[in-house]
Amino acid sequence: MSKRWYQENRRDPWRRQAKSKGYRARSAYKLKQIQDKFQLIRESDVILDVGCHPGGWTQVSVEETGPEGVVIGVDLKSTSPVEGSSIIQGDISKQDTIDRIEELLNGKELNVVLSDISPKLTGRYDTDQAISLELSTMTLDVAMGMLAPGGAFVTKIFQGVGIEGLILAAKDRFTNVQRFAPMASRNASSETYLVCRNRLPKPRKRALGMSAYSQVQKHLTEVGVNVEDDEEKQEIVSGFRRLSKKEEE
Ligand SMILES: C[S@@+](CC[C@H](N)C(=O)[O-])C[C@H]1O[C@@H](n2cnc3c(N)ncnc32)[C@H](O)[C@@H]1O
Repeated sequence: MSKRWYQENRRDPWRRQAKSKGYRARSAYKLKQIQDKFQLIRESDVILDVGCHPGGWTQVSVEETGPEGVVIGVDLKSTSPVEGSSIIQGDISKQDTIDRIEELLNGKELNVVLSDISPKLTGRYDTDQAISLELSTMTLDVAMGMLAPGGAFVTKIFQGVGIEGLILAAKDRFTNVQRFAPMASRNASSETYLVCRNRLPKPRKRALGMSAYSQVQKHLTEVGVNVEDDEEKQEIVSGFRRLSKKEEE
């Protein structure tokens, strides 16, 4: 193990605690802190954990919802079984993954959709932030298809272009939307969580018939970021498939 890894590990209390309590990832403490603040998960809840690998949030979800609850985890990567949950390996953007989740739900509606979804980081902040925005927005749309009225949605977001569009789309679908940065998110990180509570029975008027995805696309266009693939325009980030800054007129 490298000296740097060893030093970071020693300095990181969440990593140490996670290891000693048997959690698979330090991120388990992020969900615990979200739960302490908002009490989103209740006993017997039906929960979807999107981007669940290696399973830290799934472990916490099973603890919080108890033996009568249902927890489904989904990730691109293969995840070792977590007792008390069902794990699906699949891409949340694909219909066959949604079909498999619905099969497991067997007619039940979800009470909580948790999403710690994150792209494989490239190290280029703009790119990573844009792809993360796209994943979170897509997950919000997935959640809207399966979440019971009154239900809750949490997603990881990275500060940057387009976030306000996602927040507006969330506010059109939930009565209460807040940003929250758990202590367990690293100090230097621009990562935060969007906590959305009390899903409305139907979206507010201006969002009726629109997906969150198209609302965020519209917002990006309004703030001068072009989401179309256009070679003429200067590309600034790839993500939300491909974003380019409009040329000055
Ligand atoms: C930060 S990790 C999640 C950690 C997890 N919450 C835990 O506590 O163990 C983010 C995960 O999102 C997953 N992911 C990214 N894109 C995805 C997609 N399209 N569908 C499903 N999972 C995805 C990644 O494979 C990665 O495992």
